[in-house]
Amino acid sequence: MSVAVSIKNIHKCYGDVHALKGVEFDIQQGEFFGLLGPNGAGKSTLINIMAGLVHASDGCLSVMGHDVVKSYRQARQSLGVVPQELVYDPFFSVRELLRLQSGYFGLRKNDDWIDELLSILNLDDKADANMQDLSGGMKRRVLIAQAMVHKPPVLVLDEPTAGVDVELRQHLWEFACRLHKQGHTIVLTTHYLEEAEALCDRIAIVNDGELVALDSKQALLARCAERKLTLTLADTNIRLPDRLRERVVEHDSNRLVFRLDKEAMNIGEVLQAVQAAGGQLVDLHIEEPGLEEVFMALTRREPKA
Ligand SMILES: Nc1ncnc2c1ncn2[C@@H]1O[C@H](COP(=O)(O)OP(=O)(O)OP(=O)(O)O)[C@@H](O)[C@H]1O
Ligand SMILES: [Mg+2]
Repeated sequence: MSVAVSIKNIHKCYGDVHALKGVEFDIQQGEFFGLLGPNGAGKSTLINIMAGLVHASDGCLSVMGHDVVKSYRQARQSLGVVPQELVYDPFFSVRELLRLQSGYFGLRKNDDWIDELLSILNLDDKADANMQDLSGGMKRRVLIAQAMVHKPPVLVLDEPTAGVDVELRQHLWEFACRLHKQGHTIVLTTHYLEEAEALCDRIAIVNDGELVALDSKQALLARCAERKLTLTLADTNIRLPDRLRERVVEHDSNRLVFRLDKEAMNIGEVLQAVQAAGGQLVDLHIEEPGLEEVFMALTRREPKA
């Protein structure tokens, strides 16, 4: 597999703020890659460095083999970025904006592709509308079209679904999946972890300017091997074996909650032990771990001493 984005020892300081502290990883061609992290972790800074909008204080970054500083034009040509902030010129119409962006990449006769993009993004009837007259969700769609005018092999979406309605969100994911199937590399940042869990093959988690995890989704999920088992009993006043008692995390008059290590203990074993101890089972509920648990464990803010 070849590398789409190579990130080597990237540092970024904004005055006293050390926003990126030696981040290093590769994104492979054809991946659907998730870049996750809490507010202020450094995700947009890294994306802005990819796009050549922000200069790294140290380290190097290349897109499709082109260094973002030394070969800025080629690197920029290989990349489409949908920014987190909605930045646009309010006085241009949608079509004018897309033509202007095409011209920026040296594409003069790009109207066929512009029309196709407008149709895919349900903007056909807005081609001649001014940007300032569009709703927030429509503006975001135009920015996606803008990122795609030059058919870049790598598309970066910085929180594209923040503040968009359910229908548009579905629509955006279909669009991203379609591009991914066609061979584009997709890099996505999102605060909706279920989105990352559903879409991404590999996920990087940054926290406070540092890479704290980089793994396949399956491997990340497997890190959190604990599941939660809640048993509702007629009476919880029973004597459990020590091995099981150690696993109880909540206990009241009719409810016992266990944290179970998938490897070490299975649910059947717990049920047998509870019944052997005279417990009468009324109900049970199992919670499987999700990406959210893994994310929370990796990005927890330690209270400052
Ligand atoms: N232009 C700037 N000038 C000064 N500090 C900045 C600038 N841009 C970002 N920062 C700081 O760098 C750090 C990382 O910000 P960044 O926007 O990259 O985070 P993020 O991970 O994208 O967060 P969010 O999830 O909120 O979008 C923050 O502490 C932020 O205040
Ligand atoms: Mg951001």
